[in-house]
Amino acid sequence: MTSPTSAPAADLSGSAFLQALRGEPVPHTPVWFMRQAGRSLPEYLKVREGVGMLESCMEPDLTIEITMQPVRRYGVDAAIFFSDIVLPLKAVGVDLDIKPGVGPVVAEPVRTLEDVAAIPDLTPEHVPFITQAVQGLVGELGSTPLIGFAGAPFTVASYLVEGGPSKEHAKTKAMMFGAPEVWSALMEKIAGIAAAYLEVQVAAGASAVQLFDSWAGALTPQDYAAHVQPWSASVLARAGELGVPRIHFGVGTSNLLDLMGEAGADVVGVDWRTPLERAIPMVGDRGVQGNLDPTLVFAPTEVMTARAAEIIEAGRAAKGHVFNLGHGVLPSTDPDQLARLTDFVHAYPLD
Ligand code: CP3
Repeated sequence: MTSPTSAPAADLSGSAFLQALRGEPVPHTPVWFMRQAGRSLPEYLKVREGVGMLESCMEPDLTIEITMQPVRRYGVDAAIFFSDIVLPLKAVGVDLDIKPGVGPVVAEPVRTLEDVAAIPDLTPEHVPFITQAVQGLVGELGSTPLIGFAGAPFTVASYLVEGGPSKEHAKTKAMMFGAPEVWSALMEKIAGIAAAYLEVQVAAGASAVQLFDSWAGALTPQDYAAHVQPWSASVLARAGELGVPRIHFGVGTSNLLDLMGEAGADVVGVDWRTPLERAIPMVGDRGVQGNLDPTLVFAPTEVMTARAAEIIEAGRAAKGHVFNLGHGVLPSTDPDQLARLTDFVHAYPLD
């Protein structure tokens, strides 16, 4: 690589996170937190003052700083690239914004084949700021691996079709059930964008990827298998060709964990509603990630750590276990409590 921002490749061979993803023995249980960067950190609120969410994702110095903040503070075993699942859509020209306290809002929801055809495919030229931020980060992170990520086709489709956040995903499912040709075209389009977006991040130095299908839990296993899994599988297959481990995460997916694993993940993310004892046999010969209830950080420390210990114990039965919350860090979380949790997981004896 000739870019002035690229650093010599750091030695990640001792990374407990990557070892767990590959199902290898680990020196300690690795831990990171979904949404570890963000509103729970005063240093994040400070650098985001007067800067829009999307702007902060397109300004490499800021992206690097925000991604590094939780790594410096907690000493977690992985960084997650600071971005959003809708960022690649914004980059190809979809008119959308991320509204504070609301989430992604799309100006002209996608409903027809023409609407789908109007969304360009993603090329690296759409996202030079991502390449630059990832290259800079890999240099700063040294021996801490960086997780690249993308939104899975169903979850991203929900924002595009509904026009914003939705509980029922009614318009999205109406398209899935009633207009299969539009649905397939949309899923193919988003899958291509997601895979290309992951390729950019891995080419620039990300050493693992996570596919977020946060809202897949809204589906029956039959509908997931027929209308969603093939497209997520195509993203995960393309990511697999890059040679990096893949994590596949969703919320409320206790009925889908087997299918999410079969979609091609090395590790399946489990939310807090499903005990790992139940999740592990479902995912088969794969690792698991999770799954402490994100509200347990509001409990007394010893209550939180007792639950964490149960999760670490249960995780031993898996091919590999990465400790995490069952979903993202809630904005009112006390960072000191996450620091104590990180230290507890690291110190927990494995034999
Ligand atoms: O995990 C991390 O630290 C990396 C950053 C990250 C963000 N979004 C930053 C963000 C990641 C991995 C995402 C993924 C994402 N975005 C998902 C999948 C993960 C999940 O939580 O299930 C989804 C569904 C979205 C869509 C989205 N973007 C939502 C629901 C929201 C929250 C709305 C709100 O303000 O409560 C966003 C905005 C967003 N993305 C914020 C952050 C830090 C908050 C915006 C802000 O700080 O101003």
